[in-house]
Amino acid sequence: MSKILPRKLNEQALTLPAIGQGTMGIGGYYEKDSSRDLEWIAGLRRGIDLGLTLIDTAEVYGAGHSEELVGAAIKGNREKVLLSTKFSAEHSQTSQVITAAEQSLRRLGTDYIDFYQPHWPNPSVPFEETAEALEILVQSGKVRFVGLSNFSYKEAQQARAILDPIPVPMVQQEYNLIDRTIEDRILPECRNTKAFVLAYSPLLQGKLVPKDERRVILELLAKKYERTVSQIILAWLLRDDSVVMIPKGTTSSHLEELAMVKEISLELADIQQISQHYEPRIFQVPLSKIRIQGGGYRTLQEAQANCLGVNPSPEQLAQSILDGKMLKPIKIKKIAATDGYVLTEGKIRFWAWALAYDIHSSIPAFVEQCSEVRDIETLSDRREGATFKSLQQSLRDSVVA
Ligand SMILES: NC(=O)c1ccc[n+]([C@@H]2O[C@H](COP(=O)([O-])OP(=O)(O)OC[C@H]3O[C@@H](n4cnc5c(N)ncnc54)[C@H](OP(=O)(O)O)[C@@H]3O)[C@@H](O)[C@H]2O)c1
Repeated sequence: MSKILPRKLNEQALTLPAIGQGTMGIGGYYEKDSSRDLEWIAGLRRGIDLGLTLIDTAEVYGAGHSEELVGAAIKGNREKVLLSTKFSAEHSQTSQVITAAEQSLRRLGTDYIDFYQPHWPNPSVPFEETAEALEILVQSGKVRFVGLSNFSYKEAQQARAILDPIPVPMVQQEYNLIDRTIEDRILPECRNTKAFVLAYSPLLQGKLVPKDERRVILELLAKKYERTVSQIILAWLLRDDSVVMIPKGTTSSHLEELAMVKEISLELADIQQISQHYEPRIFQVPLSKIRIQGGGYRTLQEAQANCLGVNPSPEQLAQSILDGKMLKPIKIKKIAATDGYVLTEGKIRFWAWALAYDIHSSIPAFVEQCSEVRDIETLSDRREGATFKSLQQSLRDSVVA
């Protein structure tokens, strides 16, 4: 296997680095945080100097402050970088998309965005409205390329048809050792159409690997290649040249490690070994066994009333699930010495599933710490270790039925 090469975008004369920089949390998560501005700007600049020249941000990160920091970091160097940013689902109507884009351009201190995407689909706004705005933005030169973030395969197909003849050379999706959903249909589709997947959370938001017995294989490979476990994971994720990755690194040592990944050439046998060991394990887990912590909805009635004004609402997502559109599993973690789990990701999906099927139904879930999940076999309606493909097929069948 050769070293990881830059990616060529479709017929366009555009070359992308295989590894870019993510910015979620830089400038705050969902509220503005200015406490480390100078450090964050320096980190982004260091990343650019190291060749991590594709930067992904979003209007929602730090309530716009992330874009401001990216703007400050690229000042005087705009032509060196490719910028990817996203507008929020609640800004999906035509005039809202245009306004959101103009505000992003202002914060980024530039007159064009390289890749512009809806952050999440919004089932309550016909995509034709969003597409109209994207077309205007492309025609005016404010946006070079349109992308789609967190769209299911089916939603992306519909969106592409509506956007046609505007091409969609990029989809943004989660991709890591737990969530390999894109390998089923999205990645092959990108390969066929010479588009690429902008892969987010490749290091599981800093957790790197699921905490289970499989980690040892990565440690052995890290020794063999004289690299770190994170570098081995990233090199494995980049084995398909339709993948471009946007890990977030804020320390110099992390950024340097990330930049070195492209020098790694994993042998085919090692790639296959990781692929087999990390075969996706999706379980059907009764909603009643999953505990929800932190804020958000506590009961089905609250979720149904959507008093927090979440957009899209649990009910809208429930309809998407019933339409076969939204099949991404939630993430849960085993609670030691019990048969229960705690939800680590996917609160709205949890309630949407409960509204779509029933609070007593079972939901597809990625289980962190799989080695501790022995009693899962006693769960009703289990599909222990099902691959996403077979699970998706059976869900599709049940939806059709
Ligand atoms: N479209 C979407 O819905 C969506 C969702 C999530 C994320 N994203 C995008 O994808 C980007 C990346 O995802 P993410 O931020 O969720 O998580 P990530 O990239 O999987 O993980 C980031 C974490 O990994 C740590 N890290 C970086 N390099 C490392 C290394 N070499 N060794 C060990 N740890 C390392 C970072 O620590 P330090 O900060 O200390 O360096 C940080 O805590 C985001 O920043 C965002 O731009 C998009």
